[in-house]
Amino acid sequence: MIIEPKTRGFICLTSHPTGCEKNVLNQIDYIKSKPSTTNGPKKVLVIGASTGFGLASRITSAYGSEASTIGVFFEKPPSEGRPASPGWYNSAAFETQAHKDGLYAKSINGDAFSHDIKAQTLQLIKEDLGEIDMLIYSLASPVRTHPDTGKRYKSVLKPIGDTFTNNTVDFHTGVVKEISIEPCSGDDIDNTIAVMGGEDWQMWIDLLKSENVLSKDFKTVAYSYIGPSLTEAVYRKGTIGKAKDHLEATAFKITDSLKDINGKGYVSVNKALVTQASSAIPVIPLYISLLYKVMKEEGIHEGCIEQIERLFNERLYAEDLQLDDAGRIRVDDWEMRDDIQAKVLELWKDATTETLPNIGDLEGYKTDFFNLFGFNVEGVDYDKDVNEMVAIPGLQ
Ligand code: NAI
Ligand code: NA
Repeated sequence: MIIEPKTRGFICLTSHPTGCEKNVLNQIDYIKSKPSTTNGPKKVLVIGASTGFGLASRITSAYGSEASTIGVFFEKPPSEGRPASPGWYNSAAFETQAHKDGLYAKSINGDAFSHDIKAQTLQLIKEDLGEIDMLIYSLASPVRTHPDTGKRYKSVLKPIGDTFTNNTVDFHTGVVKEISIEPCSGDDIDNTIAVMGGEDWQMWIDLLKSENVLSKDFKTVAYSYIGPSLTEAVYRKGTIGKAKDHLEATAFKITDSLKDINGKGYVSVNKALVTQASSAIPVIPLYISLLYKVMKEEGIHEGCIEQIERLFNERLYAEDLQLDDAGRIRVDDWEMRDDIQAKVLELWKDATTETLPNIGDLEGYKTDFFNLFGFNVEGVDYDKDVNEMVAIPGLQ
């Protein structure tokens, strides 16, 4: 079939297998272009492995240090005439290429929050790998059904205390306008912590530890975000920020629980990037389009794969983790540089519907957004008929 982008609000309902494949192959090429390491991870479990930072982590592990990888994700398979979600095609492309290159790669598609998917993953580790030396936790989800109680939690992206008013951009139309977000109420904070906090990460670790499948010197990393004062009210000091506080605190608990195997739990604070998760957050798209402009001009712009390559090779598997005061790894260091933030703040004051195309990188934002779904990818012929019924070769 011929597949075209079909957008509704912040999401795209279709995705393109060839474009997704090209994105994955480009990321693989990027990692292959970097010096290979001998001390990188060898047996890796990635939770949230199909898109964004999780996919980049899987690719960096496999192609940076020839790691065997198991990916867990929640993606929609294709049906006749209806394309799959992009993470499905990404995983199909990754596993196809990995197998060609003689790398072990298998995956499990389902709800990572459930006991059932955890049990299946444990079984696969036992059968195929024996143990893992790294677990990347890169879930981004709006909902979680608690596996013990069956209660369904919904996360919200709201400020705490006061209504937050600031500009945002609809990146489809380029219209910059003021929006107000009402403060959270009721159980919003607890619900958001239940979904995006560290409880599920800890549950994974507790299970795998109790079943003795974590190697000596095992490492686990989850991803967090801080960002500038501009977005603070809705991000870091909002409901999602409370969940990130909880996630960050969980890293220390995990380290405590892994003392006997010298295991370590870390949080890495990553840069703001266009992903399915971040395009749904108000204000962030305007910030990102200005940030991209400034960082590209300075020659320090990075995507997910560049971020994770730096995380692995210059932090996690390097001599010095360069932890901040709160014990976190920072690969948002370039985003947060004083000169970069000062420039973004200046531009922010001038950003209107009329000025944004010049002072911001709206085009870059849009391209990245469509790229997430395999569209507008360079070198792909979109007039060519494609088979939407692509299989993931290592799917269990
Ligand atoms: P993403 O939306 O690209 O990836 C989410 C992944 O989680 C996908 O693989 C998806 O299949 C999987 N997933 C979602 N619900 C699931 C479930 N119930 N069971 C199994 N898998 C499920 O998101 P992104 O942006 O890569 O986010 C990953 C982490 O990085 C998040 O913790 C996010 O807060 C963090 N982060 C994101 C930043 C950004 O700007 N995008 C910046 C810094 C941190
Ligand atoms: Na991810």
